[in-house]
Amino acid sequence: MDKLYKTDPEVYKAIIGEATREHDNLELIASENFVSIAVLEAMGSVMTNKYAEGYPGKRYYGGCKWMDVVENLAIERAKKLFGAEHVNVQPLSGVPANMAIYSALLDPGDLFFGLSLSHGGHLSHGYKVSFTGTFWETIQYTVDPKTEQINYDELLKLAREKKPKLIMTGASAYPRTLHWDKFKEICDEVGAYLVADIAHIAGLIAAGEHPSPIPYAEAVSTTTHKTLRGPRSAIILCKEKWAKAIDKAIFPGLQGGPHMHTIAAKAVAFKEALSPEFKKYQHQIKLNAKAFEQEFKRLGWRLVADGTDTHLILVDVKSKGITGKQAEEALDKAKITVNKNTIPFDKEKPFIASGIRIGTPALTSRGIKEEEIKKIAQLIDKVLTNIDDEKVTEKVKVEVKEIAEEFPLYPQIRQGRKED
Ligand SMILES: Cc1ncc(COP(=O)(O)O)c(C=O)c1O
Repeated sequence: MDKLYKTDPEVYKAIIGEATREHDNLELIASENFVSIAVLEAMGSVMTNKYAEGYPGKRYYGGCKWMDVVENLAIERAKKLFGAEHVNVQPLSGVPANMAIYSALLDPGDLFFGLSLSHGGHLSHGYKVSFTGTFWETIQYTVDPKTEQINYDELLKLAREKKPKLIMTGASAYPRTLHWDKFKEICDEVGAYLVADIAHIAGLIAAGEHPSPIPYAEAVSTTTHKTLRGPRSAIILCKEKWAKAIDKAIFPGLQGGPHMHTIAAKAVAFKEALSPEFKKYQHQIKLNAKAFEQEFKRLGWRLVADGTDTHLILVDVKSKGITGKQAEEALDKAKITVNKNTIPFDKEKPFIASGIRIGTPALTSRGIKEEEIKKIAQLIDKVLTNIDDEKVTEKVKVEVKEIAEEFPLYPQIRQGRKED
């Protein structure tokens, strides 16, 4: 990045700083990952220069020959990866993808259901502060107070009573398997459309490590930057009968020119995701989450829904007298990055929260396996059970550094460093 260094040393320094932080810290935020250098190269390419409003073969600008090539590659690879009838690779991110689905399938003011934010859902599933909760009527369903998992019988009762036109499924903080077949039965019984947002678990689904909603749902959205390990963006997969409506909702409905550099990077990520190594990687993500589950339980922590079937666990830190915010801050000092998270029926506000969410996609990308995961769980336990003890934090930091050095990240970028 010599040119960048000469033109803008401040931005250069921030990029090297971030690459160094990503290497030095243990990244446990469940929605984050580390993309390949190939994906970074596509993102940082001349594809950012071009306007390409429209779709392959039907653009509103000249000179789109190479735009069509990359967009078609992204579409064909995504279709193959998920077995979808139609794919739109233009959504700029997860929230616009969900907005596009609602606007294609619903009329303004229609009622839809989404999982409550504090029970693992996402803002864009109809939460009142999101536009998704103001353009349409929404009801937030919850998990069962005992199992902390979705109670499909209760959801059916609610759906029979309220008659939603659409049920949004999927989550940001739900550690257990989502049963699309059961959601579909409920939708069929009340005449609702089933939509799935697989942002968190798309990589697991692509690799056959979690059931796929594709056979059941009218439309499926996913971000591409979580388990899927692509650039920060999203796609929509849908049944052929919705293809026109979804495409129109994205362009010209919600967006203008597609971000072609990101679409090129998505094509690269989908090619990587079609490889046998990616399947192994997704399997390891789950093994690592299971290792966290077992070690945290052994150390006496309560886990939401009693564990995990996916890439994440939710630790109820309030059960040992600390808040999610305190836990996040204490771990940050020890260079372990997690996020505070509300847990079902949380009495704390989201900014304080009673839990922390711990995910394994990013660490697994570094080659970390169960043995180190158990060590990391012990380090987290040490920090959280000695929350104000700086000596403990300092000791943990040394052990974090050892693990980070053993599994280096982005040496190509960090070595470009001209100064600290
Ligand atoms: C389930 C789910 N859907 C949508 C999104 C939103 O994606 P974005 O931040 O790309 O808009 C997220 C982000 O965390 C998510 O977890």
